[in-house]
Amino acid sequence: MNVYDSARMADVLAPLGYAQVAAPEQADMIILNTCHIREKAAEKIYSELGRLRLLKRAGRLRGAAPILAVAGCVAQAEGAEMLRRAPYLDIVFGPQTYHRLPEMIARAERATASVERGAGILDTDFPAEVKFDHLPKVSSAAGSTSFLTIQEGCDKFCTFCVVPYTRGAEYSRPVAAVLEEGRRLVARGVRELTLLGQNVNAYHGAAPDGGCWDLSRLIGGLAEIDGLERIRYTTSHPRDMTPALCAAHRDCGALMPYLHLPAQSGSARILQAMNRGYGPEEYLASVERLRRARPDIALSGDFIVGFPGESDADFEATMALVRAVGYAQAYSFKYSARPGTPASQLAEQVPEALKGERLQRLQELLDEQQMAFNGAMVGRRLAVLLDRPGRQLGQLVGRSPYMQAVHLDAAADLLGEVVEVDIVAAHANSLAGRLTADLAGRAA
Ligand code: 5AD
Ligand code: SF4
Repeated sequence: MNVYDSARMADVLAPLGYAQVAAPEQADMIILNTCHIREKAAEKIYSELGRLRLLKRAGRLRGAAPILAVAGCVAQAEGAEMLRRAPYLDIVFGPQTYHRLPEMIARAERATASVERGAGILDTDFPAEVKFDHLPKVSSAAGSTSFLTIQEGCDKFCTFCVVPYTRGAEYSRPVAAVLEEGRRLVARGVRELTLLGQNVNAYHGAAPDGGCWDLSRLIGGLAEIDGLERIRYTTSHPRDMTPALCAAHRDCGALMPYLHLPAQSGSARILQAMNRGYGPEEYLASVERLRRARPDIALSGDFIVGFPGESDADFEATMALVRAVGYAQAYSFKYSARPGTPASQLAEQVPEALKGERLQRLQELLDEQQMAFNGAMVGRRLAVLLDRPGRQLGQLVGRSPYMQAVHLDAAADLLGEVVEVDIVAAHANSLAGRLTADLAGRAA
């Protein structure tokens, strides 16, 4: 979502004469767009800021006083504290106020700032006006695949998570606005849309007919856009995996057979302490329903190990759930206490070393499953959307329907096309392929 937000900030800034540059040394303004989901994210920002400050001091940045800003959820959460810790900052703003950037920049330009003392502007409101209504239409350059935020914020309040506090309450963009943005992106050459939301499958957008569309209807509407070949969505909550959405995986050809469906844990007790609103049986039932609708669907997930009070038996339940599902890919994390969340107040915090051991065991299992999933692709023919140049000249990289990166020799003019590829080798994080015989002449 930060990638999407950054692109929208670029849209807001373009009329002011700003354009994106390749390196901080060339910039008149630097915005760090930050994530607060886990502890390390915030630490990284402060060390990056330290580096930029040295650069600014050494006069290596362009312009007399380049504007230094921090955006996103760390800015939202830290607020005034961030300006205290980094007094050389000019602007600190949250994820719900970036439509006000022109005003903040004008104020920063009027302020008497120096290399040591920034303009110190803070805007971490949750404004009454909806940001999306005040953003210009998408105009930032897009490749063949693009994000499209359809829903933001979260009302679920999992006890470990900062999102409800930093992104705010759940909000669904109206259907017409989403369809219009989708059409604009496709007109600019986008072939694949990934619909975004912290709780994307809780989407319920006001429709032009006065009704309300859920995600499955929205996907159906987007699938009618001429030239749009692929639709994905992320991140889903198991509680909102409705029968209609499962059915869309059977009925909508453009909807890709890949789903990120975080389980977090396999223990009923821990899931309850996390306030997830489902148990392992319900999660597995959702997976089964999905697989009935779309037998080849690839599943991905998020897991937290070492949530407060997690016993050996709780952790084994997570391992059992992973074995029962068989993931194509997954992310796993050590629990980290986030300030202001209920779980951070719990007494039974799990020792770091134990978290480390559990994470290692879980990751070994997930890696094995991922390797097995990738290995099973060798000898198959997959439709690949070629979305970027490869590292070597004459190579392109694309995505399989199952989200795997596929490397192959292909002429640059195939960029942005969906081509049939024979998979010849599998690696831990990617596949190698060859263009099918009819396209072989277009291998560079
Ligand atoms: N500690 C560890 N992992 C977390 N996540 C969210 N909050 C925390 C936390 N406090 C993980 C969850 C979520 C993913 C985006 O980050 O697994 O799904
Ligand atoms: Fe955080 Fe997702 Fe839970 Fe919402 S549903 S509180 S975003 S983990």
